[in-house]
Amino acid sequence: MSTFVYRQGVLHAEACAVPDLVRQFGSPLYVYSKQALLSQFQRYQDALDDHDGLICFAVKANSNLGVLKVLADAGAGFDIVSVGELERVLRAGGRPDRVVFSGVGKQRDEIARALAVGIHCFNVESYPELELINTVAMELKVQAPVSLRVNPNVDAGTHPYISTGLKANKFGVPVEDAEAFYRRANDLQHIEVVGVDCHIGSQLTDTAPLAEALDSLLELVDRLAASGIKLSHVDMGGGLGVSYKDDEQAPDIEAYIEYIKSRLAPRGLSLVLEPGRSIVADAGIFVTQVQLLKEGEEKNFAVVDGAMNDLLRPALYGAWQRVQPVTMTEGRDVRTWDIVGPICETGDFLAKDRDLALQTGDLLAIMQAGAYGFVMASNYNTRPRAAEIMVDGAAVALVRRRETLDDLLALEQGAL
Ligand code: LLP
Repeated sequence: MSTFVYRQGVLHAEACAVPDLVRQFGSPLYVYSKQALLSQFQRYQDALDDHDGLICFAVKANSNLGVLKVLADAGAGFDIVSVGELERVLRAGGRPDRVVFSGVGKQRDEIARALAVGIHCFNVESYPELELINTVAMELKVQAPVSLRVNPNVDAGTHPYISTGLKANKFGVPVEDAEAFYRRANDLQHIEVVGVDCHIGSQLTDTAPLAEALDSLLELVDRLAASGIKLSHVDMGGGLGVSYKDDEQAPDIEAYIEYIKSRLAPRGLSLVLEPGRSIVADAGIFVTQVQLLKEGEEKNFAVVDGAMNDLLRPALYGAWQRVQPVTMTEGRDVRTWDIVGPICETGDFLAKDRDLALQTGDLLAIMQAGAYGFVMASNYNTRPRAAEIMVDGAAVALVRRRETLDDLLALEQGAL
């Protein structure tokens, strides 16, 4: 089923007309499609087929409980980076033994909770972290399964803020130091070395850097095996991109997984992947309403009710996302607009230089907003965060209600 399509000139989310959704739930609004979410996850799962492994959805991309529940019910694993994300997974019904725990700064209480519920693996990023995990595991009298995050020093060719596999980045252990690291890890009493992982960056439209990273990981796996350290899984992280722009091609998930499987099978290694964006970006849109039009000598501004606090990617990365009118119109003048929010920052824009035929009151859809959208929202300028809804055919669920001002102020006290 096509997810976000026009019927009689009106944008629909599955079988629901977007203007009806806005009438019911207000604007701005995040709208997710259950079918799109499931079908994209299923592509990964089907491609894995009977090769042993786990597709661990990167919770940071969209941590709404409704989204996690759909994926948990479909058998997904999860990649988490905090105990908060772990609790979300558990509340959504996710299985702890399908959770991998990534991140450079895991804290003692987070490690303890993850050990207590029995996660699949810690993706360790430094020696001090490994020692901390060993200590906490000793206190709890358990063994901690770990994988080492290797930094293969490959250029993922993506935005500098989301490129993670270079020596200059804070992530992982340099591949040259990895062997020594594994030997030290092997000597720790409460550590069980089970795998190796990497994550070289996000929004990759070319898989060549991932293949290069895989080569480097497998050389390491072979060297370790020769010295008696046998790993059971390789985790390639996330990173596959989506088509934000027409000239941006999303890599072929099936071909990518086939390739990795062909390299792992002869070594009897299982595969873990941590996709985020490629599962959820296309499954969501952000809907916002034009408040007023401000035409100027140099620029025309459409001021909308959504802002950088709702959808930060354009402001933070200069990210480009499609903007589509929710209702198609005829006979109106097309002009070039910057789509901006009401926040007091020049950087508060959702899109720049878009040719659109706008009028006050129009609804606009920002496409591919299911990943790194709501999760990066804030209350800047004391703006309550938008509602999130999920559609399934003609059915709609409010998966997070719109915040109220009372919600925002509830945690604050009066004067000293
Ligand atoms: N695994 C690890 C260890 C990661 O750091 C990430 C993303 C993922 C998996 C998931 O990667 P994905 O499949 O989504 O590319 N806020 C940025 C993206 C930051 C990604 C951070 N790490 C954006 O909006 O573009």
